[in-house]
Amino acid sequence: MQVKQDLFAKAWKALEDSIIYYQGHPVGTVAAHDPDVEALNYDHCFVRDFMSSAFVFLFNGKTEIVRNFLIETLALQNETKQMDCFNAGQGLMPASFKVLNTQGQQYISADFGEHAIGRVTPVDSSLWWIILLRSYVKATGDLDLAHQPDCQRGIIEILKLCLADRFDMFPTLLVPDGSFMIDRRMGVYGHPLEIQSLFYAALRAARELLAPGRQGDVYNQFITQRLNTLNFHIREYYWLDLKRLNDIYRYRGEEFGTTAVNKFNIYPESIPDWLTEWIPDRGGYLAGNLGPARMDFRFFTQGNLLAIISSLASDQECDWIMDLIEQRWDDLIGSMPMKICFPAVEGLEWKIVTGCDPKNVPWSYHNGGNWPVLLWPLVAAAQKTGRIKLAQRAIEQAEKHLCEDQWPEYYDGKNGRLVGKEARKYQSWTIAGYLIAKELMANPEHLKLFSFDEDLESLNWTCSIPMS
Ligand code: GLC
Repeated sequence: MQVKQDLFAKAWKALEDSIIYYQGHPVGTVAAHDPDVEALNYDHCFVRDFMSSAFVFLFNGKTEIVRNFLIETLALQNETKQMDCFNAGQGLMPASFKVLNTQGQQYISADFGEHAIGRVTPVDSSLWWIILLRSYVKATGDLDLAHQPDCQRGIIEILKLCLADRFDMFPTLLVPDGSFMIDRRMGVYGHPLEIQSLFYAALRAARELLAPGRQGDVYNQFITQRLNTLNFHIREYYWLDLKRLNDIYRYRGEEFGTTAVNKFNIYPESIPDWLTEWIPDRGGYLAGNLGPARMDFRFFTQGNLLAIISSLASDQECDWIMDLIEQRWDDLIGSMPMKICFPAVEGLEWKIVTGCDPKNVPWSYHNGGNWPVLLWPLVAAAQKTGRIKLAQRAIEQAEKHLCEDQWPEYYDGKNGRLVGKEARKYQSWTIAGYLIAKELMANPEHLKLFSFDEDLESLNWTCSIPMS
């Protein structure tokens, strides 16, 4: 007991050490505070990483840092986002920012992806920003902040960017490779699940935050329509279990017109060998990606867990995802909760999918590494589906290594037994992820700050769709 309390206290101390100050006020947390390695951009505050810290702060009434973060990043949304004189979309939020000191003056410098390795677009930042704004409002009751003209403008800029008409037949959000937590080339371009889960949660959050009035009402209608179609599309087409796999296995190709069963023209030969054995009798998950003749059968953890937390997945799907995690424990949790995606791509496929990325070799980093930050969405999803024992077991597993290993960014190996080859130590979202998990166990009410109940309106709408 004492040991666990010490662990908790050490984690808090490490999180506090990671706080960044701007003009004397806390404004974010650095990605990592590793004294032994060159910082590169790990001394930045990454928007997606800060979410974990932010939830811990909100649980504990430390709301000022979250408010400052929301306001400062909102101001950055107005900055020029340019690469080689090309302007990126107005609603884009930065991937990260840093506080600079020059000649006694402090200012904030942002990176919208124009400095990032591979020049990847941080699509998830804008979505997380809206989600966090809702959490902040829930924690503090300060709806006035969200209703301020600047905040409303910020939300609408993001909505404009996401809801703009584009060349697409699907309600899912079309994005380039590496536009979220997996921010390197990993074959996750198109309609990756994590982005869809975040998109869904951000739309649900925006609907709660838009101020009444003509503009708010118009956007509310757009949002509701998109939520309905997105919800249907994901539940209907991304879902994979043994029954669905059997259907795909017997799919016919080349079907034209409205009566097609195999709407996306998925060829049965594209079902990977590992899957037929891996998928349990009772259990399933949402596929990683879907497009013409393309179903990414890999299991992507963050997208699946966020689909549970946001109620993008149906109640039964949520249960079955948790069943799958329970039954494939060694593969998905192993020595450190939890694997970012399963399985790794290897050989020629690794060459083609990653572009020969040496950081993403099989069972390392994004390509099948284990990321301790994923402990918090796992515990949150477990809480939401009533799997308390599973959550407990995962936390106990993490506690065996995290502090002793100095809170690494990620682990390598099939079972996550090796500290990641290039992992930073004292990674803030590893530390915060552990704290969230512990706090959620102690006070399950906290879950409400970032979860969503089933959207009954979407359910009713789905019942009214004429099916071919
Ligand atoms: C790496 C991760 C990314 C994270 C960043 C900072 O680039 O892939 O998800 O936000 O490090 O920790």
